[in-house]
Amino acid sequence: MAARCDVVVLISGSGSNLQALIDSTTGCDHPARICAVVSNRADAFGLERARRAGIETRVLDHKAYADREAFDAALIEVIDAFSPHLVVLAGFMRILTPGFVRHYQGRLLNIHPSLLPKYKGLHTHQRALEAGDTEHGCSVHFVTEELDGGPLVVQAVIPVQSDDTPESLAQRVHVQEHRIYPLAMRWFAEDRLRLTPTGAELDGQELPASGQQLRN
Ligand code: GAR
Repeated sequence: MAARCDVVVLISGSGSNLQALIDSTTGCDHPARICAVVSNRADAFGLERARRAGIETRVLDHKAYADREAFDAALIEVIDAFSPHLVVLAGFMRILTPGFVRHYQGRLLNIHPSLLPKYKGLHTHQRALEAGDTEHGCSVHFVTEELDGGPLVVQAVIPVQSDDTPESLAQRVHVQEHRIYPLAMRWFAEDRLRLTPTGAELDGQELPASGQQLRN
């Protein structure tokens, strides 16, 4: 990896994960630098967070494109103008085409609010409660062509409390997201984390199927 790891972050909404990533890189000699934030929604609050941090922003409205392929092709063009080493999906609520995923193979990370492979897709907190799970959490993984699939890098596991609601659970999971995403980005920027043909590797060791698990 070059001396510094340039990162482009993709968002669709509030951007609290983006904020955690920004905060982790400021005020210290961090190996990563967020060079741009791209949103598919002009009203995403995350864009404001980026502007406040002096980070370049771009908006690409998916509704302006005929289909997914056309949007993803335009998105690649916008992202590649920044020549990033890493692309980070932080609440980017679009299904990506295989072509997009292949283009960023090994340098595309996502965060998901469940202990994958459980609860791919939406309403993860509700589904964990309905299933009577005693543990829940969040996962960072390399993106592959399978939705919310791809080798796991790190998971944070929290206990589910008897009085939890989807909202209270979401709140506690969010706190953990803000902990594990900066960690995974740092590992990548330090050249410690990589995708191999057989899975994700940290410091030359293949990670377990669940990634590195942090328990609370
Ligand atoms: C996060 O909880 C993230 O895990 C989820 O969207 C939220 C974005 O919050 N992502 C997915 O569900 C992707 N499948 P944020 O905008 O405050 O970072």
